Amino acid sequence: MPDRPYIVGNWKMNGTRTMLAEARAIDRAAQRHPGVQVALAPPFTMIGALREAVTVLGVGGQDCHANVKGAHTGDVSAAMLADIGADFVILGHSERRKDHGETDVQVRAKADAALAAGIAVIVCVGETLADRDAGRAEKVVSGQVDGSIPLGDIAADAVAGGKVAVAYEPVWAIGTGRVAAVEDVVAMHAAVRARLIAAYGDAGAKVRILYGGSVNAENAAGLLSAEGVGGALVGGASLTADAFLPIVAAARPVED
Ligand code: 13P
Repeated sequence: MPDRPYIVGNWKMNGTRTMLAEARAIDRAAQRHPGVQVALAPPFTMIGALREAVTVLGVGGQDCHANVKGAHTGDVSAAMLADIGADFVILGHSERRKDHGETDVQVRAKADAALAAGIAVIVCVGETLADRDAGRAEKVVSGQVDGSIPLGDIAADAVAGGKVAVAYEPVWAIGTGRVAAVEDVVAMHAAVRARLIAAYGDAGAKVRILYGGSVNAENAAGLLSAEGVGGALVGGASLTADAFLPIVAAARPVED
């Protein structure tokens, strides 16, 4: 069901085994919302345990290497993520782009590798405050989409199968409590959509575009009902069931 709203919790570098209780609670609640696709991306160290602990939740990584294996100390490949039960991987998050200098070219290589390993991808894009203030937000984000989305041999099938999503996360809205205005989100999602259609043809119209950046229980309904918003990528408010579940409940489910 590729067009269910997609609510994804990105735990970032948070989570030890004590947090499995939160994941179980989120999983139980997700079972009551079959019209919404719910997933969590914990740190690498918790993917296996989380996979065992939950039933309906998607489980994903927050990064992968572009190679299948080899001499890359500290890295984890998409094949390894698939092996431990991950369904998807978040790629090109602005924190990876900033902390690790990841480029669009590298993000695309990782996305192609993830699809080749059989897992879905969420490719992240988003402008800085300087970009927005200078009036170049749409240009920057469009360029990131053009450069980062998967284009390898398997991409067309993956897009058709709902295995490619894009997350628009304005850098200035991440972890700041400062959420983007709904009309700006709508405008940017339309710009991203145009690039997806340019890349994938008609199939690009079905790729889900998630919004991320300070999504919480209070603002979720407004954001998730906005034109072109296919879900949310949630950081801080995904760390507890109490904070995350109202966001899942705010997603408008697909009618059967
Ligand atoms: P916050 O929800 O904490 O702002 O984080 C958003 C994010 O970066 C999700 O990937």
